[in-house]
Amino acid sequence: MRKLTVLCWLLASLVSYPVTADEQQNFQQQSKAAIQEFATTLKGALVSAIKAGGPTEAIQVCNQVAPTIAASLSKKYGFDIARTSLKVRNPNNKADCWEQTVLLQFEDRKQAGEAINMLTFSEEINRDDSQELRMMKAIPTGEVCLKCHGSNIAEPVQATLDKLYPDDQATGFSLGDIRGAFTIRKATQQ
Ligand code: HEC
Repeated sequence: MRKLTVLCWLLASLVSYPVTADEQQNFQQQSKAAIQEFATTLKGALVSAIKAGGPTEAIQVCNQVAPTIAASLSKKYGFDIARTSLKVRNPNNKADCWEQTVLLQFEDRKQAGEAINMLTFSEEINRDDSQELRMMKAIPTGEVCLKCHGSNIAEPVQATLDKLYPDDQATGFSLGDIRGAFTIRKATQQ
């Protein structure tokens, strides 16, 4: 009888394997490091491409380099890292339900006075068949972003964007808006 109870307890704990505090903390640290690396690498590539060839040339950086950085960081850290927004340029970056809710929550928190670079949210999501850790960090709209995401985009830049992204929603942003967020997803069930 006692053996059976232990076995059931073991099985139950296997089914809904809880995320330990250590795992949580590790996830937070790794997420922070990955986001930092993503942001710095991308911004560096963007700024030097604009310097070298202007914003039209730099579109290539966002178009090709951003997804490559995301893929290599995902491999390095063992989770999915990407960028998303309530208004996306690339439909591949569209927010899922959880991300949309968090992005709306970020807008509310910003409205209530929180600084954009302090807006983060993470959650452990348990379902019958899956378990994952998720986290997001808001991305502010800076001056340089307006060249391609603002309201007054230069004609050749706009023409290139129209060609590459016929469903572009990511224009009309102002300095100090939330442009989007980094988003991380890690499956934790073995
Ligand atoms: C040279 C033009 C250009 C500049 C400058 C630029 N972006 Fe973008 N941005 C793009 C392109 C192109 C994409 C689509 C990338 C893709 O295909 O994944 C994009 C996508 C994004 C996305 C992913 C969500 C989406 O809309 O698809 C975010 C977030 C983003 N940019 C934030 C920024 C921020 C923040 C800055 C300023 C630091 C910035 N961008 C500056 C061109 C630019």
